[in-house]
Amino acid sequence: MQVDLNETWEIGGVPVPSRLVLAPMAGVSVQAFRRQGRRYGAGLVCSEMVSVAGIAHRNERTLGYLRVASDEHPLAIQIFGSDPATMADAARMVEAAGADIVDINFGCPVKKVTKTGAGASLLDDPDHAARIVSAVAEATPLPVSVKMRRGTADGSRDCLVVGPRLVAAGAASLTLHPRSAKQMYTGTADHSLTAELVSLVDVPVIASGDITSRARAQAVLATTGASAVMVGRAAQGNPWALAEIMGMPADPSREEIVAELLLFIRETVRELGEYRATGFLKKFYGWYLGRGRFPKPFKQELVQLRTIEEVETRLLAAAPGAREVLENLEAGLPPVDEVLLDSLPISVYGGG
Ligand SMILES: Cc1cc2nc3c(=O)[nH]c(=O)nc-3n(C[C@H](O)[C@H](O)[C@H](O)COP(=O)(O)O)c2cc1C
Repeated sequence: MQVDLNETWEIGGVPVPSRLVLAPMAGVSVQAFRRQGRRYGAGLVCSEMVSVAGIAHRNERTLGYLRVASDEHPLAIQIFGSDPATMADAARMVEAAGADIVDINFGCPVKKVTKTGAGASLLDDPDHAARIVSAVAEATPLPVSVKMRRGTADGSRDCLVVGPRLVAAGAASLTLHPRSAKQMYTGTADHSLTAELVSLVDVPVIASGDITSRARAQAVLATTGASAVMVGRAAQGNPWALAEIMGMPADPSREEIVAELLLFIRETVRELGEYRATGFLKKFYGWYLGRGRFPKPFKQELVQLRTIEEVETRLLAAAPGAREVLENLEAGLPPVDEVLLDSLPISVYGGG
């Protein structure tokens, strides 16, 4: 059975216009990445995980993660933490920021996060996990979704116990990345668990893990009954992977690749400022120009350059036709001042 990836479905009343979701990825899912994902067919995008402690302390960098652009909707903002009341307060901030969905992270396997009782460690404590979800669901009228792993230990099936508990506590959707926390990113995602989870809950389930092609997306949707697939690593520096999954042309020219990279650079500089963007962008050069698209020494040369201006000049020298492609791309986007909505109340930034 072929599933139509272009079909609209919904999470707690929020329409999602395709069955392709762009994964939240720390250090990757900036606004430029999310807006690009929407342009290439993702029906839903998500912020990277945002610390509720950072929100509670009004940490400036953390609050920056809550900035929503007008052309990102529908957008989920993902929060992580372990204290239900702090999570509930953060959910109210997410709502004020203009997100459509509050996503809760019960999947992060990184020690720095799990040792605070957040992320995947909550899969070991279903009662507490359910308390968090119900506190968040009571705090905001927005739909609440949860992203989780299969469990903490290898071979764990805990997601099948925890998932239905979270739905009973108010989760309007679940995303499953069926690797254990211990596995990190090794081995493979076992989507037979996704199928089991789908059979146990009456809310939409999103399948995350190892979706890299249209064939794989179709197979996972058909065999699991999931409402959507989520794509992470395959889309890093490669929005054409999203296009391919959606059945769109996905064989970019050198000029198109360079133009998308230049747009990404410009938007990221605007979002993070030049100083932070300079370091942040380096990994993207390899992602965009790799996959046999440009010779290796060219990527290495770009990473060595000190300023963004030098990077832009070098990229345009390698693909002069990219300038025109970029102009066309920019002309198709809404004007900048219409995009950068600052819907957070001023007091949010100034509140100590
Ligand atoms: C660099 C990186 C950062 C990630 N950060 C997050 C995160 O902030 N929140 C989250 O729920 N998952 C995070 N993930 C997990 C992804 O959302 C996704 O579930 C996982 O990568 C499997 O999907 P993939 O095979 O399509 O990459 C991250 C993954 C990567 C590679």
